[in-house]
Amino acid sequence: PLVSMKEMLEKGRKQGYAVGQFNLNNLEYAQAILQAAEEEKSPVILGVSEGAARYIGGFNVVVSMVKSLMEAYGTTVPVAIHLDHGSSFEKCAEAIHAGFTSVMIDASHDPLEENIATTSKVVELAHIHGVSVEAELGTVGGQEDDVIADGVIYADPKECLELVEKTGIDCLAPALGSVHGPYKGEPNLGFAEMEEISKTIELPLVLHGGTGIPTKDIQRAISYGTSKINVNTENQIAQAEVVRQVLNDKPDLYDPRKYLGPGTEAIKETVKGKMREFGSSQQA
Ligand code: G3H
Ligand code: ZN
Repeated sequence: PLVSMKEMLEKGRKQGYAVGQFNLNNLEYAQAILQAAEEEKSPVILGVSEGAARYIGGFNVVVSMVKSLMEAYGTTVPVAIHLDHGSSFEKCAEAIHAGFTSVMIDASHDPLEENIATTSKVVELAHIHGVSVEAELGTVGGQEDDVIADGVIYADPKECLELVEKTGIDCLAPALGSVHGPYKGEPNLGFAEMEEISKTIELPLVLHGGTGIPTKDIQRAISYGTSKINVNTENQIAQAEVVRQVLNDKPDLYDPRKYLGPGTEAIKETVKGKMREFGSSQQA
């Protein structure tokens, strides 16, 4: 069923696992991720950035596509459709009214007071609709669609507590050195801050930039209350590698089903591996 993230993440934090947010880039991602979740018996979050939604045809198309696939597949695991890095109250409202079950308001680039004001407004509307809300503090490095960071700023634990208490959000993404896209060298996550935040804040924590984080760091993050991990680039790389290979091997091939199909399988296998690594398999 289509649900908000609230229950699945609270359960994850209590029981010590993380639910993956896997981003949708097009139809094939929705197919691969929903199939992976069902086969792994795992709850799942379908992340949709504003850029991806534009590419797919808008929020309404995303919701219709996901609902139709879930019906066709007879999906039994909990699924959330989540706006990733929502840029404004208006965009979040648009997603909520289109049927998204969860939104992220990313006002992390604004001063704390403004972040709190915008996030509160989103929470007020979202909760009327039973929609969960994620907010962010600090900056995730790298670039994702329209979200470009010039430097990585670590979230301040005291500001995190203030944001949580003043807004009523359902989960918090404290940026602590993670990066969108591949890491240059080993990631250097702020585990001291993460531990401190997890001691004062009972909410599920979110880790952005899940691509390329070693398993030991994933496990440590989960032990410090991380119960949502976002992955996009790793699926894109897996898909692109296979499609490139097939097209290189068969220069006469033109039927998209024959080169995209194997790419979709690669996404599915990557997602299933993440679900096992995060511990969400067999938890639905
Ligand atoms: O919001 C989406 C993610 O943080 C994805 O990060 O592309 O590095 O896996 P990634
Ligand atoms: Zn992100």
